[in-house]
Parts: sequence; C-alpha cells; structure tokens
Amino acid sequence: MRVLILNGPNLNRLGKREPDAYGTFTLDQLIGELEQFAYANGIELTNSQSNHEGEIIDWLQQAERQSFDGVVLNAGAYTHTSIAIRDAIASMEVPVIEVHISNVYKREEFRHHSYIAPVADGQITGFGKDVYFLGLHALLLRNQRG
Ligand code: DQA
Repeated sequence: MRVLILNGPNLNRLGKREPDAYGTFTLDQLIGELEQFAYANGIELTNSQSNHEGEIIDWLQQAERQSFDGVVLNAGAYTHTSIAIRDAIASMEVPVIEVHISNVYKREEFRHHSYIAPVADGQITGFGKDVYFLGLHALLLRNQRG
C-alpha cells in the first residue's frame, strides 16, 4: 500500500508554532513516528510539506498519476481558502483524507468552512498528531475491504 502524507503551509513550524493549538512535537518527529507505524503495517510512505499552493496541487496530481492508495492531507490554512486544491482533489480517484491537528470547529469561525471536506473521503479533526495515524487507519481499513 502506498500513501502520501502531505502537509501544507506552516506545518514545517510544528513544535514552535502556537503550541497551545498544535502541541510541541516537530514535523520531523511526527514523520519519524508515522514511518514506524507505516513500516509495521506494510505501508510505503511518501512525505511532503509545502508552503505553496501550486506545489501541493503538483503532489496531489503526482499521487493520482502514480496510482497511490491514498493521501492524508493537512492543507493548513489553504483548507479554508483554496478552490484550486479542492478542484485537484475533485478530479482524483485516489482517496484523500483531510486531517487537522486542532479541532477547527472549536476555533475561529473562518476555520469552520473547508473547501476540501465536500470532495475528501472524510475529515478527521482535533485529536492532535493522532489524526495522521487515524487517517492511515482509515486507508488501511478501506484497502482491506477492497
Ligand atoms: C490546521 C488548522 C488550520 O485552520 C490552520 O490554518 C493550520 C493547521 C490544523 O492542523 O489544525 O495551519 O490545519
């Protein structure tokens, strides 16, 4: 099973960035833990982080071209603004799971709207870094059921 973990803007600053909202773990630590989980569960992980909308779209298109089994996407603030990322996902067959470290519905109103949710397979929000593992679990279950 091949999965792309894709993180959007400012997620490279995990650990330093608003720890009350996002915790104190760094992106490198998170990726390390995800790689261990992936290895133990027969998942081949590809990881990417970008602060640029177009680059996120390029990665999504690449996952589609290469027929990945799924994408776990934290699009950061682009979740609330990007019709272009929404359109990229709408054009894909590869399942995309939207994740957010913080519970976006407990926060400012502008975070309550997601352009991605209507075209994603599902949304997981508010369990800290566990959202990435829950996203991988969802893809594993989907893959097992065929
Ligand atoms: C976030 C929530 C977004 O509203 C915010 O802009 C982020 C991170 C999260 O993981 O909780 O950058 O996606």
